[in-house]
Amino acid sequence: MSYQWKGTAGMTSPAEMPLDTVAARPVLLLTRRLPDAVEARASRDYRAVLNPDDRAFSGTEIAARAAEAGAEAVLCCAGDRLDDAAIAALPDRVRVLATFSVGTDHIDLEAARARGLTVTNTPDVLTDATADIALLLLLGAARRASEGERLIRAGAWTGWTPTQLMGTHVGGKRLGIVGMGRIGQAVAARARAFGMAIHYSNRRRLAPDLELGATYHADPEAMLPVCDVLSLHFPATAETRHWLNAERIGRLPPGAILINTARGSVVDDAAVIDALKAGRLAAAGLDVFENEPNLHPGYRDLPNAFLLPHLGSATVETRNAMGFKALDNIDAVMAGRPAPDRVG
Ligand code: DGY
Repeated sequence: MSYQWKGTAGMTSPAEMPLDTVAARPVLLLTRRLPDAVEARASRDYRAVLNPDDRAFSGTEIAARAAEAGAEAVLCCAGDRLDDAAIAALPDRVRVLATFSVGTDHIDLEAARARGLTVTNTPDVLTDATADIALLLLLGAARRASEGERLIRAGAWTGWTPTQLMGTHVGGKRLGIVGMGRIGQAVAARARAFGMAIHYSNRRRLAPDLELGATYHADPEAMLPVCDVLSLHFPATAETRHWLNAERIGRLPPGAILINTARGSVVDDAAVIDALKAGRLAAAGLDVFENEPNLHPGYRDLPNAFLLPHLGSATVETRNAMGFKALDNIDAVMAGRPAPDRVG
C-alpha cells in the first residue's frame, strides 16, 4: 500500500485496525505537508497519503500521485497549479478537490465543473489573520519598518536623529479598499482603530450596519484619487489581471501607499516598481506576488517595498482551521452530503 502513516499519540495505526476497517476508508492525497493536527485527523479518518518532505509537485504529478494511490479525494494548496491538463489527468475516482485556501485561482474551475469534480475552499477562517497581515503591511510600509530593521541588522545605526526614517502618519488618512468582502471589512475595522477614514468600492453597496460610515464608490476608478492608502481585496481572474496598472496608479494621490494581500497578479509589477522608484507611490506593503516564489527581481532592492512571503493566513490557529475546514468538506462529499464550501 502506498500511503504513509504518521504515528499520532493516542491514535490507532492502520496496522492495528481490522483490515476491513482500513480498507473501507477512502484514500485521501495531501499534496503538501500540513499542520500536525490536520494530518492527524486526515490519517485518523482516511488512508492519508502524506508528503512529509513537503515537495512541491506539478499539477500533472499530483494527478499521477492520485492515480497511483487510488485517491478518491485530494487536499491541495494555493501553490498547486491544477490547470485543465492536470484536472483532465486526475483519475475518475477522485470526487473532491479541497483546496487549503480561500483563493481558487490555481484551479481551473471550469475544467473541474466539466468533469463533475466538486471543488471546495476555506472561506471565513482566514479573514482575521489576513486582515492582521494587511495592517502589518500598512504600518510597516508607512513607518518604514523594514528599512529600520535592515539598518540595525547591518550595524549601520549611529543613533537617534530628529529626521531619521520619517514615515507617513496613518491616522487621519484615507484608506481605499477595493473589494469589501469579509477580509476587506475586517481590514476596515482595524484601520478605523488607527483613525483612518474608510472608502470602499465593491460590486454591491454594503448595508449600513456593515458599512459603518465608510464612503461607498460604485466605480473603483473614481475612488482612486482619494486613496492615501489603497488596499486590494478582490480575486485574481483573467479580468482582474494587472488591474493596478500605470494608468490607475496615476490616479492615486502622489505619495500613496499600496497594500496587496490578495494575489500578486492583480498588480502590474513593472508599473508598481516604476512608481516606487519615482516616489509616485511612497511605499508598498506586499504579501503576494505574481509567479510566486519567483517575484519580480525589481522589488528586492527597493527600500520602500515592505515584502512578506505570502504569510496572510500563517498562524497555527488559522492553518489548523483551514485544514479542518478542508477535511469537513471532504467528509461531506464522501458521505454523500453537499460540501459546505463548494466553489465549483
Ligand atoms: C488563500 O487562502 O487564498 C491564501 O492566500 C493562502 O493562505
